[in-house]
Amino acid sequence: MNVLIFDSPKEATEAAFDIVMKRLEAGLKTIGLATGSTPLKLYEKLRSMDIDVSHVTTVNLDEYVGLEPSDPQSYNYYMNEELFKYMNFSATYIPNGVAEDLEKECERYEEILKNHPVDLQILGMGPNGHIGFNEPGTSFDSVTHITELTPSTREANKRFFEKEEDVPTKAITMGISSIMSAKEVLMLAFGEAKAEAVRRMIDEPVTVDCPASVLQNHSNAVIILDKEAASKL
Ligand code: GLP
Repeated sequence: MNVLIFDSPKEATEAAFDIVMKRLEAGLKTIGLATGSTPLKLYEKLRSMDIDVSHVTTVNLDEYVGLEPSDPQSYNYYMNEELFKYMNFSATYIPNGVAEDLEKECERYEEILKNHPVDLQILGMGPNGHIGFNEPGTSFDSVTHITELTPSTREANKRFFEKEEDVPTKAITMGISSIMSAKEVLMLAFGEAKAEAVRRMIDEPVTVDCPASVLQNHSNAVIILDKEAASKL
């Protein structure tokens, strides 16, 4: 893992942006995207660039089960608002959290990933070390699947919802093995709330109890932190 620490989220975001731009210029075909608050500034910078991405496909990590794409809390909605409506990507894929047959939807998504191998995967992490919605305990062999969100994840994400009861209890997520198939991973983590998970990801042995620690096994993972997220290293 290549760990880079910056004074502020702003500087960290700039470093991430430079990497993304370099890969786009080098002809990247498929980029894996994450949601949450961490990559928001990165997306703001990307959408303000006048760049042609008509040769680029995007695949997102996850989606809540039960939220329509038109629901402002859905990740489909988030991606449209933050990026897709400004950029001319060739195709954009996000799991469908309201598919009638969710198991089939997982298979369909895994097929999409097979047809679009990810060159660069942008990742955030949950305060419990989850990546995508792969909660602690998820097998490293997992592919796209339905997952039950832990109380701590629902608590961490309730800030985006009006009431805690509105936070879905399930999600569709790319699995850990799907995420690890990316040729390069760019993990961003900012703020003190992530410091303990960051420490476990980097300084402790690889364990399913901290899903992000699997990145120690990736041959090309860049971890971009602000100094607060790095404060326990
Ligand atoms: C959600 C998403 C993750 C994301 C995490 C961190 O749980 N499923 O993909 O990395 O939130 O969110 P934030 O960046 O808001 O801390």
